[in-house]
Amino acid sequence: MPEHPGRDFQEKTSYRRDSMEEHEPDWRSKPPLYKFYNHAPVIGLPDPAPALDEYPAPDFFTCVARRRSVRSFGATPISLLELSRLLWASAGITMSYITPHGQDFYRAAPTAGALYPLETYVVVNKVEELEPGLYHYRVAGLDILERPIAEGSHSLEQLKTGDLRSEIAAAALDQLMCAKAGAVFLWTAVFARSVWKYKDRAYRYVYLDAGHMAAHLSLAAVAQGLGSCPVAAFYDDEVNALLGVDGDSEGVIYMTAVGRPSRPFNTRTDLRHTARPKE
Ligand SMILES: Cc1cc2nc3c(=O)[nH]c(=O)nc-3n(C[C@H](O)[C@H](O)[C@H](O)COP(=O)(O)O)c2cc1C
Repeated sequence: MPEHPGRDFQEKTSYRRDSMEEHEPDWRSKPPLYKFYNHAPVIGLPDPAPALDEYPAPDFFTCVARRRSVRSFGATPISLLELSRLLWASAGITMSYITPHGQDFYRAAPTAGALYPLETYVVVNKVEELEPGLYHYRVAGLDILERPIAEGSHSLEQLKTGDLRSEIAAAALDQLMCAKAGAVFLWTAVFARSVWKYKDRAYRYVYLDAGHMAAHLSLAAVAQGLGSCPVAAFYDDEVNALLGVDGDSEGVIYMTAVGRPSRPFNTRTDLRHTARPKE
């Protein structure tokens, strides 16, 4: 083990003008961009498309101004529609495009090389119409030739049922908010998807991708009157065991707890606090 593994990582994954290696990825060995739990019960999610007349969300800049890490959640569950929008805004499909083999999809958050190395899991504590337990987000459906299709997209695969509140809070260094949250989002990286093209530098990119997804999620929460808190303090092995992933080919890298805040948003926090240059 190096003395400073973090510093070592930064240094060893740096790009330098004088030592760039040519690397043409082998298209025949490109890892699949979608993970499926084919034997899991699949639960369709409500259409996340915002119906603004029925649900007037605050404007984007108000959401930015109101976003704070919320760690205190009330007893009221979040709705399935709210969960659907959180999933869509962070990991869902926003555009399709044509490939030589059919169609594929762009998703809400940016990702290095359109390789989408992250998988989204949700520990459900209190969500209307969903049994508590562990779910995996099915981004797209697949046709019989295993090509991605819109049918069957944006749904949840039910991996475990039962009360996981103590387990998830314990795995998150005993952060109680993970037990009190309506749901806890967990993002894993399937490293090979990105390593295929970027080799060791991929390990930087998966974390940057996760930051984008978490940012989308935090603003989608505020837009719906929900609160969220990013969580990177967790026992990796315990979270990986809960998810049933090996931590090597696929491992947890980031989480976010989300729920109905027990206190109203601090509306004193607004754009007026932004420093402006003197006129
Ligand atoms: C990468 C990252 C990891 C974090 N991990 C935790 C965590 O494990 N527990 C926690 O309570 N807050 C965590 N936070 C939230 C920060 O403490 C919070 O963003 C910071 O105090 C600024 O407050 P704000 O989010 O309200 O602006 C994390 C934030 C980031 C960006």
